[in-house]
Amino acid sequence: MTLDLFAELEQGMGWREELDAGAVVLRRFALPRQAELFAALERITSQAPLRHMVTPGGFRMSVAMSNCGACGWLSDRSGYRYDALDPHSGKPWPPMPQAFLQLAQDAAAAAGFAGFAPDACLINRYEPGTRLSLHQDKDECDLSAPIVSVSLGVPATFLFGGGQRADKCRRVPLAHGDVVVWGGLARLRYHGVLPIKAAQHPATGSHRINLTFRKAR
Ligand code: SIN
Ligand code: FE2
Repeated sequence: MTLDLFAELEQGMGWREELDAGAVVLRRFALPRQAELFAALERITSQAPLRHMVTPGGFRMSVAMSNCGACGWLSDRSGYRYDALDPHSGKPWPPMPQAFLQLAQDAAAAAGFAGFAPDACLINRYEPGTRLSLHQDKDECDLSAPIVSVSLGVPATFLFGGGQRADKCRRVPLAHGDVVVWGGLARLRYHGVLPIKAAQHPATGSHRINLTFRKAR
């Protein structure tokens, strides 16, 4: 086991943990690509800054968000939706960088979802104390495509629940470089993030960054 683990780590593949049918954590999968990811992230957020969106109910979201790709996820007083334009600039969201696309496709394939073609990447930035309450990702047209969710920076506890909000959640610790993929039977699982604990990470300071890849259209 230990030798396999080292061999896999050396190949930059990390190791995998099945959460359930259709759901897997690819431990440290993004680690070998972090330099390209952060360089691309910098370019994206200089064009489409991270901002606090407002929920349809009028609450300011504590997680700061931006997007890249053909369409971006938005929340405002009129609801949740995908839009090709960033309302901040009135211009299209920055294109999805090749490093992002390749990572998402490779992670999906490693989880058993070959041919994933994401057109949206939501960027979430968590400060200490911020959380993401339980929700389903269901604003996408094509539910046959999985979700690929990349964790960077300070650790988090991911909640992975069932098909109903009240179902019991698994608590999954996520570290820098971990990638969670869920699709198929698991595609509409409730999920969320517990409040981020104060910590420091060399790559992100006190923040946690999450990249969520989806096929929205
Ligand atoms: C999300 O559900 O959009 C983000 C999940 C995470 O930050 O890990
Ligand atoms: Fe989500």
